[in-house]
Amino acid sequence: MIRFEKGVAAFRESKSDPELLSAIAGLKKTLNREVVILGHHYQRDEVLQFADVTGDSLILSQKAAGMQKKHIVFCGVYFMAECADILTEEDQAVYIPDLEAGCAMADMAGRPQVEALWEKLCNMSDETIIPVTYINSSADIKAFVGEKGGFVCTSSNAERVFDRAMELGTKILFLPDRYLGANTAAQKGIPKEQLWLLDRLPDSRQMKDIRVLLWDGYCSVHKYFRLEDVQRLRRDYPGIRIIVHGECSEEVVQASDHFGSTSAIIRHVSESPAGSIWGIGTEEHLVRRLKNRFPDKTVLSLSRGGFQCSTMNRITPEKLLKTLQDIQRGGNAMRIRVDPEIKYYAKSALMRMLSL
Ligand code: 13P
Ligand code: SF4
Repeated sequence: MIRFEKGVAAFRESKSDPELLSAIAGLKKTLNREVVILGHHYQRDEVLQFADVTGDSLILSQKAAGMQKKHIVFCGVYFMAECADILTEEDQAVYIPDLEAGCAMADMAGRPQVEALWEKLCNMSDETIIPVTYINSSADIKAFVGEKGGFVCTSSNAERVFDRAMELGTKILFLPDRYLGANTAAQKGIPKEQLWLLDRLPDSRQMKDIRVLLWDGYCSVHKYFRLEDVQRLRRDYPGIRIIVHGECSEEVVQASDHFGSTSAIIRHVSESPAGSIWGIGTEEHLVRRLKNRFPDKTVLSLSRGGFQCSTMNRITPEKLLKTLQDIQRGGNAMRIRVDPEIKYYAKSALMRMLSL
């Protein structure tokens, strides 16, 4: 039986009071010259309808970097809003409607543990190790990676970042998602024997053959998709194509037809001909949105019922309205401020990614 943990919940439909929705629409219009709302694909529809820009982590960080508005409201999770704060100017402010909307995966890598591990790894090998952190990590981890000459990556560009990191060094330390790291390594043709899961340390002899060291983190939503789900859908829907997020396990990714970011999932489904059948392994708000958007295609969740990211789901229309009201009053209760020193180094790791 599945034991739900922080980060995942069974999907539940939500409906908001029309008065509340029209209050948000009215206030958004009033604040239009100063405020922009960004929304990630996993947000509820009732929140996402107010976003000026929707996208995956890469698109949203690129857009945040070029924003001209004074106030940026980020409907997503904490690390995304932190990235927006890192990439925007000093006179711009970033807000998240719920400061507790974290990411279970990002919480799995803390800087003191990563620093201690780094020291051990460097003492074990003379080769150049390039740290790469998935964008789903704290600003502090991004700063660590930036200080060491490494990169941030997202699920959209992990392959390109791997290529660049392998030009600069001979080993990659990939944080914090073991699955995205392993799936990208497989995409690059790196044999399984050259990956090392850091649930324990290699010895110096083993270290010689390793090309990718994987931090033992994972997404507590995507880990619930199983190989049996893929097999069941293939059995029940001949001709189905399966696409999953790169945070799914290697066995699920290998049994699927495609894997990638939330944008890649949307692109594959939208570009497929009418009558196509899709099985999708990602957060359920996105799956349901695709289902509604393409009534001429069959869109199915890879798992019966679907899973929602409980932290993404903390952003509600009520909290969005409160945030806008607070901004109107000149408050900053929901503002995110990354420490300037952390910002400096984290920005260097983000910019290395954005410049690729
Ligand atoms: P994307 O960058 O693909 O939108 O993924 C973000 C995320 O948190 C997936 O769980
Ligand atoms: Fe984090 Fe997973 Fe939620 Fe994405 S779906 S924000 S990785 S917990």
